[in-house]
Amino acid sequence: MSGELSPIDKAKFVAARRAAELVEDGMRVGLGTGSTAAWLVRCLGEMVREDGLKFRGVPTSARTAELAREVGIEVISLDEARWLDLTIDGADEFDAELNLIKGGGGALLQEKIVATASDQMIVIADAAKEVDTLGAFPLPVEVIPFGWQTTQVLIEETLVAMDVMGRKAGLRMNGTRPFITDEGNHILDLHLGRIGNARQLAMVLNQIPGVVENGLFIDICDVLVIGHGDGRVEMRDINTGTVQEDRLDFFESDNLFRDPGD
Ligand code: 5RP
Repeated sequence: MSGELSPIDKAKFVAARRAAELVEDGMRVGLGTGSTAAWLVRCLGEMVREDGLKFRGVPTSARTAELAREVGIEVISLDEARWLDLTIDGADEFDAELNLIKGGGGALLQEKIVATASDQMIVIADAAKEVDTLGAFPLPVEVIPFGWQTTQVLIEETLVAMDVMGRKAGLRMNGTRPFITDEGNHILDLHLGRIGNARQLAMVLNQIPGVVENGLFIDICDVLVIGHGDGRVEMRDINTGTVQEDRLDFFESDNLFRDPGD
């Protein structure tokens, strides 16, 4: 990677590297999607190549699968794995209860299926993703292409009765065309500003015909690994109520930094 890493990239990297240490021989591990998860995949690839770590990974998107294979991780499907020891993934926002908004990278459906099929979900994120109340980040909702505009109207009407600040839904684009997920669906990004009752909203959205899944991850994350630009890492465990702090040293001459991700 040319040039120095930004503080945000350093924060993402240290969170990913700390979480990679939790992967043990023989595990089946869900591999998330996004720039923080890409660091994780590279760290794990290095551990496979240099330390002989033996585990199998279930990617949550085609791009994570490609990167995982490229760095030497054995990739299997969720149906082959059936159940996972842990999933490690990024997030767009997290709150004090470790509830999340995910799907900024458009992979929320596979991410939610894989995380739900895991004994443990570990989220890796830079400290800037922490919020008091979810909702500043637009909430991604995966919808099927058939009648998506009708689904959008139904969503906006449903939001009238919800405790949210805004209710505009926008179709995610990829240049001049609608963004297409790995499952061939579209994404509507809901500009809510503030979500008063995320648990209720997550359930209500999924009742609307045409909605496949929404990006609210409620009671799914067990451990949150927060990285800071100065190398500090904080690990919060919601089940034990413990918080651990660490500092990781890293060198930008490391092989990992020669290989940029997404
Ligand atoms: C992809 C996701 C990502 O985990 C989320 O968007 C965070 O991405 P990044 O690590 O690049 O900030 O949910 O669907």
